[in-house]
Amino acid sequence: MRISVIGCGYLGAVHAACMAKLGHEVVGIDVDEQKIAALSSAAAPFYEPDLDELLREVQETGRLRFTSDLSAAAGSDIHFICVGTPQKKGENGADMTYVDAATIGLLPYIASGNVVVGKSTVPVGTAARLANLVLDAEPSAHLLWNPEFLREGHAVSDTLQPDRFVYGVPGGSEEHPAVGLLDAVYSTPLTAGTPRLVVDLPTAELVKAAANSFLATKISFTNAMAEVCEASGADVSGLADAIGMDDRIGRKFLNAGIGFGGGCLPKDIRAFMARAGELGADQALTFLREVDAINMRRRTRVVELSRELCGGSLLGMRITVLGAAFKPESDDVRDSPALSIAAQLQLQGAVVTVTDPKVLSNASRRFPELQYEPNSEKAVQKADALLLLTEWQEYRDLDPYELARSVASPRILDGRNVLDAGKWRAAGWTYRGLGRP
Ligand code: UDX
Repeated sequence: MRISVIGCGYLGAVHAACMAKLGHEVVGIDVDEQKIAALSSAAAPFYEPDLDELLREVQETGRLRFTSDLSAAAGSDIHFICVGTPQKKGENGADMTYVDAATIGLLPYIASGNVVVGKSTVPVGTAARLANLVLDAEPSAHLLWNPEFLREGHAVSDTLQPDRFVYGVPGGSEEHPAVGLLDAVYSTPLTAGTPRLVVDLPTAELVKAAANSFLATKISFTNAMAEVCEASGADVSGLADAIGMDDRIGRKFLNAGIGFGGGCLPKDIRAFMARAGELGADQALTFLREVDAINMRRRTRVVELSRELCGGSLLGMRITVLGAAFKPESDDVRDSPALSIAAQLQLQGAVVTVTDPKVLSNASRRFPELQYEPNSEKAVQKADALLLLTEWQEYRDLDPYELARSVASPRILDGRNVLDAGKWRAAGWTYRGLGRP
């Protein structure tokens, strides 16, 4: 099929490449010329495992091209809207500028029988509003909502082999004429057994908001348990392992630590609360305010613990932060709890050096006042305390005996509870985890 993908960020660039991999003829469109130049030379403008290789592979087939010219969407059967919906400045709600601009910009190029498919995470009600615009421009066209659940760091496999497809169609009927077209787009994973659900437009929009809210709630639930563990001398890791063995609960997303960040969970739960408020259903989601508050409290807790670890004062303490990405295998620092903690420590008088295998240029643009050192061996030299804040494999694998020879004082705060406390203590370290004795 001929496909256009509008918006080539984490979602769109991966989607475009994966659709070409599935055999379709794809044009990726973005207003950012730099992004287009990078993607056209098969170099992803961000770090995502396997993406460069995939871009190279599909570009060689001639099935994938990128442009900043929206008129290139003309001639496609299906148009995917993959632009961002960031948090509005100073408000909880989602900024719909990009989704609206992409849809309105696309209208002149929508031809008879075309299908516009929204993938962006949007406030419930958006699809119905945009469907009217599409119908006004081309009465035989359709608008569907097909939310995306990909995780950064696993974006390619999550797109090619997702857990499920959710199609939101007006009326929610399997018989809707656009369902067959979308089935043709995803025929490879569907044939391989990926389940798909057809629902109505508002349900499809809500599925995404609900999924991310549930994940955020799971993490904050564990972090709340971590607070109780800290107060009672219990160990949240053992607690999570034990409750996670109950199938109904599940162990995934029960890792206590410095909390969730990134370009999705924090802004999505806030946008969801804002939208529920507009709909008069704000009471239903007041618990998400608590989820957000528990999450933000972790950052303050880490600063307090770091002060304790440094003997009561942060002033002049040389602290090395290991990891600044919001999670491993990503170069994304949007709302990264690690970076936010590094900045707070610096403000409170510590001399902070940040190291990370991937994000240093992104991080230094956001927090230019911090010191950055790409070489982790150099970064830890003469440190008074280490803070492991993003659990990259290379930090999980650190040898406490060897490392003890580089630092000024063997003190470590394990912000992700991934180190073997017994081993580090045996090597002479003062070890602190979160929610662990
Ligand atoms: C998330 C959703 O998982 C994905 O389905 C959706 O499409 C987009 O938002 P992503 O933002 O890539 O994906 O990150 P995710 O893997 O969900 O992690 C989010 C944050 O939670 C990270 O900061 C991570 O470190 C943290 N986290 C995750 C925890 O603190 N504990 C956990 O147990 C799991």
